[in-house]
Amino acid sequence: MTTLPDAGLRARMAGYYDILEKADDQGDLYARLLRGPEDPYPVYEQIRALGPLPRSALGTWVTTDHRIANKVLRDRRFGVRLADGQKVPEFMNFDNSMLGLDPPNHARLRKLTIPALNPRMAGRWRDRADELCARFIDELPAGGATFDLMTEFAQKLPVTVIADLVGIPDDLRPRFTRLSRRIAPLLDGVVSFHKVRGVDLAIGELTDMFRGIIKLRQEDPGDDLISQMLPAIDDGRLTMDELEPLCMFLPLAGSETTVNLIGNGVRALLANPDQWDLLRADPEGLAAGVVEETLRFDPPVQQYRRVAHQEIELAGEVLPVDGELAILAAAANRDPAVFDDPHRYDITRKSAADTLSFSAGIHYCLGAPLARVEAEAAFRAIATRLPDLRVAGEPRRRDSFIIHGMLHFPLSVG
Ligand code: HEM
Repeated sequence: MTTLPDAGLRARMAGYYDILEKADDQGDLYARLLRGPEDPYPVYEQIRALGPLPRSALGTWVTTDHRIANKVLRDRRFGVRLADGQKVPEFMNFDNSMLGLDPPNHARLRKLTIPALNPRMAGRWRDRADELCARFIDELPAGGATFDLMTEFAQKLPVTVIADLVGIPDDLRPRFTRLSRRIAPLLDGVVSFHKVRGVDLAIGELTDMFRGIIKLRQEDPGDDLISQMLPAIDDGRLTMDELEPLCMFLPLAGSETTVNLIGNGVRALLANPDQWDLLRADPEGLAAGVVEETLRFDPPVQQYRRVAHQEIELAGEVLPVDGELAILAAAANRDPAVFDDPHRYDITRKSAADTLSFSAGIHYCLGAPLARVEAEAAFRAIATRLPDLRVAGEPRRRDSFIIHGMLHFPLSVG
């Protein structure tokens, strides 16, 4: 269990928000982004106008340039930890598993996780995702009543799929779902003291829950990730201290991201009726295009950070050891040097797959094939079963910057 946030943390967070607010007031665009603006896309364009690698008053270099972003993500002179191997200080004391590790520990953990997320399982995932989407649509209110796309559909799918993957016993699933939602703010970067406290408690409860499940699988192994990992503990390739955070990291990395891919996709489709019509006419053929174009146009994860492990010259700038660089992936996805008419949502776009929405290099998302299968199933099912879908109220967005999406999106059918 992690230590509870204290008065010191509250003060440190308040200080941080003050700094952000002051820098934003003085025109610092990266500070503005970190404060979670209503619409970040115009801010990205203002940052793009400053050049390929401007430096924020907060000390961080920032890029919207696709070529630089792609290069940095693949450059082994950059990492996710400080040069001495320490974690970059954050408000939340969470071990984000392999995503927070540099080589060689990163490679060891990643290699052990690969089999559970192998794209060869896509056929099985597809059947399961289709079955779940059909069930969730059946459960929607009948007769044109308003429903919430996020809570009544999008939030249900990924958490169920991850529960299957990790091997959560049926009786623990409602608790797993609740706790997974409570740790979601971990992905958001800037959060409130209140949220940090809630997250800390949820991490403690999830850790206890996983300890129990790991014990269960030691006695009675199944066809799940935990059971697949146990031999690596026995032969010393993995420690128990690494398995627990890994179990917890998967619902974190794989839920809220996929939830918002589905939400952002439906929102973009309904805002672009020509594209919605195309999908409705050919759900089987175009659902994959919706996934790729939504990942490009409005990606769930908007930025990644890297730290220079040595002095690095880049785009006319010199980054010192431990210099921090923010990759604005959502902006790189609209770089006019790579994408024609980048602000247009076009589900038939051929270059959509060049996006950086699943990152690149050694941390490239391990769950990308699974996320694609799930979101494709969702768009296919929605277009087939709910062709008369309409917006029925104002969406409520997540008040965060790193994960971009909605908390609520009222829709109706007919
Ligand atoms: C639309 C859904 C998803 C998006 C947009 C997404 C995005 C990302 C991104 C951007 C990263 C790397 C961040 C960085 O480079 O700093 C990442 C890493 C990762 N993701 Fe995903 N993800 C999604 C779904 C999933 C799912 C479904 C899973 C697993 C069930 C998953 C598991 C992981 C893992 C294990 C890593 C760490 C890889 C490493 O550090 O080597 N993700 N994801």
